Amino acid sequence: MQDMNIVSIEAKLLDLAISARSKAYAPYSNFAVGAAVESASGKVYSGCNVENISYPVGTCAEAGAIAAMVADGERKIRRILVVAETSSLIAPCGACLQRIKEFADEKTQILLATPDGIKKILTIEQLLPFGFDNEELKK
Ligand code: THU
Repeated sequence: MQDMNIVSIEAKLLDLAISARSKAYAPYSNFAVGAAVESASGKVYSGCNVENISYPVGTCAEAGAIAAMVADGERKIRRILVVAETSSLIAPCGACLQRIKEFADEKTQILLATPDGIKKILTIEQLLPFGFDNEELKK
């Protein structure tokens, strides 16, 4: 018999991101965003956007979730989910795609969601083809 307490990782990430989104500090745009990351070892982290009166200083939800993952010693994103309340789908901004790329591989799933559910699952290659990744800098 199936254990009713088993929740899929996708549902868990959506819950976490929705909860983080509810804490978003977005008084200037009034656009709350939540993100949740599952690392390669299966740990989960979340973040929300944090705006600032000096507008460019604000940070995206993805940045917060990725920073929490890195601060916990994890280096690989297995899944990252982004949630906002939009009629057209929200995708990570260009800067966040670069942030994701740093810790992603070809299997990393980027899940785009509204509070109703996950609408699309993409890879970093699909969202950021030809993204900056200079091998020489790694030497
Ligand atoms: N935002 C995110 O948190 N993530 C994205 O990928 C796109 C944009 C935030 C930044 C800003 O606080 C608000 O959404 C409006 O741009």
